[in-house]
Amino acid sequence: MSYNTLIVTKKGAIATIAIDRPKKLNALNRETIQELHDAFEALENEEVIKVIILTGNGEKAFIAGADISEFARFSEAEGGKLAAQGHELLFNFVENLSTPVIAAVNGFALGGGLELAMACHFRVASENAKMGLPEVSLGVIPGYGGTQRLPQLIGKGRAMELIMTAGMISSDVALQYGLVNHVVSQEALISFCEKLASKISNNSPVAIGNAIKAINAGFKNNENGFATEIEAFGASFGTEDFVEGTSAFLEKRKAEFPGK
Ligand code: COA
Repeated sequence: MSYNTLIVTKKGAIATIAIDRPKKLNALNRETIQELHDAFEALENEEVIKVIILTGNGEKAFIAGADISEFARFSEAEGGKLAAQGHELLFNFVENLSTPVIAAVNGFALGGGLELAMACHFRVASENAKMGLPEVSLGVIPGYGGTQRLPQLIGKGRAMELIMTAGMISSDVALQYGLVNHVVSQEALISFCEKLASKISNNSPVAIGNAIKAINAGFKNNENGFATEIEAFGASFGTEDFVEGTSAFLEKRKAEFPGK
């Protein structure tokens, strides 16, 4: 299968999906989300593939978020639909795959980019990587699982701070927080992930699939959290802050929020 926005390579039991929109810092537009779904689904159904590595092409970004230019003018209903469809097509889909997925975070992982890395089964970052959920600076909230998965991974207080400040953390801080499992040089990132993938591929795929299912089951009581997130994400699209935040980004100026 060939894709417009992705490059999929295979080496024995290991497949690598690289998002290939480096000029847009691999931002997730509608087409990329659909193609990622299709690629993950095809690899899950491929008997020989035991591990999938997800990364971004170019030296700068893993994924700099959802494509702001696509949703800047959405209504509340469209915003809610965007989040719900994203959860189903990609973020929950990846988390629930029985083929392990490693995120090789090679640069900026922001907004939907960090959310996708968090939906992967675990993460390895390069030294230059920067991670954050800057949505509130755009007048919206994380809408692809970030309000649920970030506290699961780093704890509620740290997640609150990272989301409220819209800040970015370095890979060293991400390692200290447990957001990523390892930090390596950018040059060594893919080979490091391949070595881990190779170790995993020696083990029972059925058992690994069941282990993923069981580990995930412990977090399913957060289903209401996800529903709350979708509703709140949709509501963001009806606010003046959202119009101002996204317009300012697209016009390359600082946002001036009207206040409460
Ligand atoms: N959606 C759409 N386009 C994006 C994007 C996004 N999330 N992130 C980056 N881009 C585009 C830029 O608009 C720019 O396009 P252009 O060359 O056609 O103008 C291109 O990618 C390069 O980005 P640029 O901002 O010029 O790079 P930079 O090095 O100055 O800054 C970032 C890098 C990551 C700090 C900055 O791009 C950024 O803040 N991106 C948005 C992050 C974000 O808020 N994500 C959450 C979305 S919900």
